[in-house]
Amino acid sequence: TAARAGAHGGFAFKPIGIATDHEIHVPEGYRHKVLVRWGDALWSEADGAYGDDGLVPVAMSDKVFGENTDGMELFDVDGKEVIAVNSEYVNPKINLPEASEGVPADADQVTLLKNFQGVTVMEVAKGANGYEVVKDSPLNRRITHETEMTLAGPLAGHDLVKTSADPEGRTVRGTMNNCGSGRTLWGTYLTCEENFNGYFGATGEMPEGEGYARYGIGGEGRYAYEKFDTRYDLSHEPNEPHRHGFVTEIDPADPTSTPVKRTALGRFKHENAEMVHASDGRVVVYLGDDERGEFLYRYVSTDTWEEGQDGGALLDDGTLYVAKFNDDQTGAWLPLTPETTGMDAAEILAFTRLAASAAGGTTMDRPEWVAANPTKPEAYVALTNNKNRGVKPNAGGDDTSVNGPNPRETNNFGQIARWVPEGGNHAADNFEWDLFVMAGNPTVYDNAYGGSENVTEGNMFNSPDGMAFSSDGMLWIQTDGDDSNEGEFAGQGNNQMLVGNPQTGEIARFMTVPNGAEVTGLCWSLDGKTAFVGVQHPGGSWPDGAGKPRSSIVAVWREDGAVIG
Ligand code: FEO
Ligand code: CA
Ligand code: CA
Ligand code: CA
Repeated sequence: TAARAGAHGGFAFKPIGIATDHEIHVPEGYRHKVLVRWGDALWSEADGAYGDDGLVPVAMSDKVFGENTDGMELFDVDGKEVIAVNSEYVNPKINLPEASEGVPADADQVTLLKNFQGVTVMEVAKGANGYEVVKDSPLNRRITHETEMTLAGPLAGHDLVKTSADPEGRTVRGTMNNCGSGRTLWGTYLTCEENFNGYFGATGEMPEGEGYARYGIGGEGRYAYEKFDTRYDLSHEPNEPHRHGFVTEIDPADPTSTPVKRTALGRFKHENAEMVHASDGRVVVYLGDDERGEFLYRYVSTDTWEEGQDGGALLDDGTLYVAKFNDDQTGAWLPLTPETTGMDAAEILAFTRLAASAAGGTTMDRPEWVAANPTKPEAYVALTNNKNRGVKPNAGGDDTSVNGPNPRETNNFGQIARWVPEGGNHAADNFEWDLFVMAGNPTVYDNAYGGSENVTEGNMFNSPDGMAFSSDGMLWIQTDGDDSNEGEFAGQGNNQMLVGNPQTGEIARFMTVPNGAEVTGLCWSLDGKTAFVGVQHPGGSWPDGAGKPRSSIVAVWREDGAVIG
């Protein structure tokens, strides 16, 4: 649109340089403010809960905004603006009393850590000081590691998901390590369970089964939950981890609704869930598994969706596929079925990685977010980096030699691959692909590690991760990489958000975040004039200027009030 066309290589903003400080930077003519910080009250009863000591009392820990903000989406709920947002993980050294040295000392401290994670649903509204959280809104909600949810789809009720607390295998507590996000065509939120493996530990004997090792489950849990809660103890509850690692659907319009884990979308370290309406009417969800040498997936519903329909059931009946990229820039989606994997239908969903290996998917450089262009049939995946590419196989023993979309050994920079489905139909079996960008450092390397042609000294970055399209078809790219500004990363500065033009391949830097932080999570106000951007694991004392660093969501807008872009 005219408001977005500009003199800066097709971008409406003047690209910014790198930063190495503990501040946020945006282009000339743009403003920003912190919308909400970890520990801020969502209800008045939690006012002041975040104390001068940077601690929150356990009793208030599920009444404040969670830590380490990640994927988010904004919804129109009867004209109210509601953000659903993930809190991926916690830094116990920051939010437990110093004496604990980062390890919970009792069940209360475990509860505190559980409550700072999960999902926040909160109403936001624009006032005299820009956007703010609407405290006490009836739509506000916290979903934690203890919230009850329904297990749905073909794996529900199977022996693999039965536990002593849930002998039927249909009711699960908690959604955990909520990384990227997605939104359904029918207006619900999708939250994606990524590094769920780290929450489980064995206090005694470790159960048998190759599924544990492939997912990195075993040893000690990262937060010692298992010492205070037998649900997380593999020696007591060998099936509990089989109930996590899914895409979970949440209705942001109904705070009393029960979240639903959609097992048909497979179990792995889910990054995000990008849903599109295929031209043949079916629902397609693109899914990345963020681990070195793991795979890119696609789900296709069996039935079609029509405007106005609650499509939840479409996420329980469909086919999961793994991507196969050929070196000649063609590719195919390989269905994961008993015939292609030698596994039964339930096992395919419980141990999806094993199924994808059996079917012969292409090992990828850590698939992070997938984003589909709303203006034409194409999709992009951020392959963040992979130091093991060409060095060692993945955890399933699959070959990780260089291949088409993963062309560099010991890949510390990452790349973004793009595919166009055959006939413009996202549900088609075949596609053509290319690389939109290979990140690199042209000031250090004059080989493939210098990056593709659209990478310059002025826009270089490493480790693309979050991605989202604005409605005008521009690709917003967020990084989660090495921000040392040294060695092969010299001149790349802090993590950043850039905008890519799919037509021209041009990429321009829009924003930088405080040193130590990654940028993750992006959504827009209903009028498109404010962008909400997540700042995860900042360093220093950002944003308060003193005390502990606090992960926060930042609002960004144009001084002239135009649509952002
Ligand atoms: Fe939570 Fe793969 O990022
Ligand atoms: Ca990520
Ligand atoms: Ca991260
Ligand atoms: Ca990452």
